[in-house]
This record gives sequence, structure tokens and C-alpha cells, in this order.
Amino acid sequence: MSDPLAPYRHDVGRPVHELDTPVLCLDLELVEQNIARAIELFRRHGKHWRPHTKGYKTPQLARRVLAAGAVGLTCAKLAEAEAMARAGLTGGLLVANQVVGPEKMERLARLTRCAEVIVTIDHPDHLAMLQQAARQHGAVFSVLIELDIGMARAGVPSPQAALELAQQVEQAPGVQLAGIMGYEGHLLDLPDLDEKRRRIYQALDLLGETCELLQSKGIPCPIVSAGGSGSLPITLTHPAVTELQAGGLVMMDAYYACKCHLEGFAHALTVRTTITSRPAADRAVIDAGLKTMHVAYADPLFLDAPPVVRFDTPSAEHATLRLEGEAQHLPIGHRLTVVPGYSDLTTVLHNQFHVVRNGVVEQLWPLESRGHLR
Ligand SMILES: Cc1ncc(COP(=O)(O)O)c(C=O)c1O
Repeated sequence: MSDPLAPYRHDVGRPVHELDTPVLCLDLELVEQNIARAIELFRRHGKHWRPHTKGYKTPQLARRVLAAGAVGLTCAKLAEAEAMARAGLTGGLLVANQVVGPEKMERLARLTRCAEVIVTIDHPDHLAMLQQAARQHGAVFSVLIELDIGMARAGVPSPQAALELAQQVEQAPGVQLAGIMGYEGHLLDLPDLDEKRRRIYQALDLLGETCELLQSKGIPCPIVSAGGSGSLPITLTHPAVTELQAGGLVMMDAYYACKCHLEGFAHALTVRTTITSRPAADRAVIDAGLKTMHVAYADPLFLDAPPVVRFDTPSAEHATLRLEGEAQHLPIGHRLTVVPGYSDLTTVLHNQFHVVRNGVVEQLWPLESRGHLR
């Protein structure tokens, strides 16, 4: 089989500033710094960290968060969990999503034979599928009940509904309740920080209420899982939450920094891009368009450019910049370092990370489960 990374192998050992563009770079020193900072915060607040890996989908990076002290990994898709298990990362894999249909049930059962897996349910139909698969494949499944804490995505609608589903799980052979989860994703970018704290606490209180309700009926609820990078400092302090799923902070994009006001983490993920056209004094065109980086939730940040470079219009393969003052001297061929607006949807546009240390490409990491969406 041909090597998809072959065109890039000659980049290993080269300084970043010499690389042809566009290129997705991951600075390993900054990643390690971000992981160390996260671990310190988790220890200080007495919470477990089961970081979401959907943003990078790469066992090499997941291995580093586990080595630093994470209790497991969160995945958005079964295929991501399978990729982690194939790489030998078999402990505490949470698929924070509903897994549906006989094909996936068979895969899930297979995965539970070699890895410790938890899946998320929010309906008796999920439970029925798991029970049938447990019978058919001789598996035992571990589940979290997802509660809608205001995002209006998946999740049972109330603590009472969570209790009813938990009582059904208690009666279901082959299925065990590990706890509950909710995601406060609708509150990450509230601009007023007092309001953000108040509303996130209100949302997470629902998880606390649910946990107490379950326990009052004799149903243990050891895991109460929530949290994203955009809510980290708030969710970390909520007493009901036992563990957090925040994951993207190890890469740290412009959305977390500028819209969610997350502080203390370094921009480890960048795109190197070249100015390819200078059609007017105040306009430059770069070779990093929407097929190279995602900008929907936040404008990208320019790290090594004069502050008078402003991101203007993206198109598929180009992006237009507005230049003022000294930036108007930037010539065709000049290279810029850009922090993507949203890392999650940027990484999956690429086949690999150029992993950089001290300004030099050290390795290429394939984006293991990019495009594996089942
Ligand atoms: C269920 C769930 N948990 C947590 C997160 C937060 O992940 P991150 O910290 O990588 O933004 C997300 C983001 O979409 C999510 O869907």
C-alpha cells in the first residue's frame, strides 16, 4: 500500500520556516506545557481528566495525556475508540455519543473484549440494543446516561427521566451504569463572564440533582462527566462534576482564546501559510483557505505578523487579508503563522501533523481516524 505521508517525509529534520505551505504544525513543547498545566489544574481541583480526543484523533498525542495522568480518553465516534485501542490505549475509553445499529453493536462488543469502554445512552431503545448485543455476543456494556443540560442536543430531558432510564439499566442483564454526563456546549462563548459562570453552574446543578436522585434510590453514580475546553475554569470548580472531557486545550485555538476566554494555554497548533498574491496595497492573499483551516467560530490569529494584518474573506483555497500600515510592506512569498479559528474542524482537513520541537520538524503524525466517521 502506498504511504500517504511519502510526499512529506523529506520535511522531517527541516526548520519550520523552510517548509512549503500550507502545512499544519503541532509544537510538541507547547503541547507538553499545555498538558502539564491541565494536569496541575485537575489535581488542584480534585477532578479526573478524560480528555476528548476528537480534535486530534491521534494515539501519539493521546498517549501523552494518559502518561501525564489522564484517567482515560473521550471519543466522539466508535471508530476513534477502535483506533485508540488498536494503538494499545485500551483503558477508560468513553464514547461520549450514542452508538446505534446492529453493525456498531457488534463492533462495540468486539471492542469491549480488548478495551475498557463506556458508551452514552439517552433512551430505552439504546438500552434494548445493548441488551440484545450483550445476549448475542456475550458482552457486558458500561454506560453513562446523557442528560440535556440546556444544549438541546442529545440527552434525557430531566433528572426524573434519567432516574427512570437508570432504573431500567439496573434491571438489564449485560449492561452496567457507570454514571451520568452532560455537556454545557451552548454556554462556552457567553461574553459576560459572570453570566457565563452563573449559567454553567445552573446547567451543571442539573447533573448534581440527577446524581443525588439516583443515589437516593440506591443507584450508585460514580461518574459525573461534563466540560469542554471553553468552560474549563468554571466546570473544574463545580462540586457535582467528578471528571471533565475538555480536550482541545492541548492544541488551543483562537475560539478557546478569543471567544471562550480560556487563559494559560499556548497555541500549539498552527498553520504555516504563504502570501501568494498582493493585488492591492491593502490586500494580500494567502494559500490557506477553508480547505486548510476552519474559521467559522472565530477568526484565525496571526502570531508572527504585524498587528495590522486582519483576516478578511476566506474561500476554498484562498483567504484574503486586509493590510494596514507597516503590514503593507509584506511581499509575495512572505510566510505567516496562523492559529486556526477552530482546531477540531481544521485538523481533519489534513492527513498528518508536522510535529515540531525547537523550531524543527521532529516527526510526522498521521491523523489516525480522520474520515473514519462511523
Ligand atoms: C460531548 C462533548 N464533550 C466535550 C466537548 C469539548 O471538547 P473540547 O474540549 O475538545 O472542545 C465536546 C465538544 O464538542 C463535546 O461534544
